[in-house]
Amino acid sequence: MGCQYFDPCAGGADSFTIAIPRYTFGRGCLAEAGTRASALGMTRVGLFTDPHLRDSAYVASVIEALGQAGLDVAVFDEITIEADDASVERGARFVADGNFDGVVSVGGGSVIDTAKASMLYGLHPVEDFLDYFAPPLGGGKPMPNRLLPHLACPTTSGTGSECTSISVLRITELETKFVLANPVLLAHEALVDPACCDTLPPRIVASTGFDLLCHALECYTAKAYTRWERQPDPRKRPLIQGANPWSDLPAARALEIVGQYLERGVADAADHEARDQLMWGASLAGMAFGNTGTHLGHALSYGVTHLMRNITTDDYPVAAPFIPHGISVILSAPAIFRYTAEAAPERHYEAARFLACDLADATPADAGEALATRLIGLMRKTGVPVGLQAVGFAPADVPALAASSARQVRAINNAPRETSRDDIENIYAAAMSY
Ligand SMILES: [Fe+2]
Repeated sequence: MGCQYFDPCAGGADSFTIAIPRYTFGRGCLAEAGTRASALGMTRVGLFTDPHLRDSAYVASVIEALGQAGLDVAVFDEITIEADDASVERGARFVADGNFDGVVSVGGGSVIDTAKASMLYGLHPVEDFLDYFAPPLGGGKPMPNRLLPHLACPTTSGTGSECTSISVLRITELETKFVLANPVLLAHEALVDPACCDTLPPRIVASTGFDLLCHALECYTAKAYTRWERQPDPRKRPLIQGANPWSDLPAARALEIVGQYLERGVADAADHEARDQLMWGASLAGMAFGNTGTHLGHALSYGVTHLMRNITTDDYPVAAPFIPHGISVILSAPAIFRYTAEAAPERHYEAARFLACDLADATPADAGEALATRLIGLMRKTGVPVGLQAVGFAPADVPALAASSARQVRAINNAPRETSRDDIENIYAAAMSY
């Protein structure tokens, strides 16, 4: 690789900024929740979780720890499995009415993302829900400088939301998801207890595992930060700032981890080594993409979840249509990396090596194909849908999919290769089946 990937470009950024929370990892560390929340100054806690976790041992242990530290706790669990504006509006009322001095979230990405946004909207209300989203979709209203202290406790090994300044929300009226991104959304602390993954069903380990894989792979292959335009005001430097030497480190390790442990973690719930490693990898990938941004894998997933119909997924307690986020991302990924590799062959080759792709006799020119072959193999071995036709799409859907995803402008522009609407259509067409 080389530093040449980050060589200066005329008019390009010359600095990058990294933000991660204080971070604790270990089996049983949820028992630290009370001490940690207290140290953050919390006395009255708004605890966010979802209805399926509400009676779980994880939530019980956090509530017990908070109580032992002498903190008052009120619980909010009216969160859908895909965080949406309606959940946030309910959560915002909970925050506005609760007189809290801190928030604890216990759950997957939807719970943590809802907690972040509920503080924003509850403490700093706006007339139109889209006001805080970036133009052209939203009003681009500046966010406040501070929210309440937030202790994030993930219970799945995928989103990495405990380490990011991002909240991904489904906007009901627009039938698709958009991203709120601002440093103020970063949790103050993450408490990551891999024991939460011991009882995850295999399909959830698979879909969240592919999410973490794509976070890491998209970060490592993203456009270099030096190729984004220079932002004179450092406060306005976007979180989607492109690949950078710091994010390379967690992204590379996350690729090694998911390459080594994904199949084992899906196959055997008792394989604590694999499931613990996947939880660690999810946080690493979150630290990476929270400071890089994703690119085409995530951008094209939004068209999939926008237009899905009559499809559901076992192990997820949710009505059709539903495709888990990680699956919506991995479906197009083999076609995407076949497409992007020519723009940064060395980067793709290194990523393929981290992911333990078969590189016998391969050169960087073969990296896109090596990555695609490896991803398709992992999809087959873990029993997830392979290609868009497997989740109900047909070639006739390609223009609508591309039109929907084309709205994810910054993520598309974070790809290493310039990508037009026609290119997106070609990728979707190639992703129908493998
Ligand atoms: Fe993701």
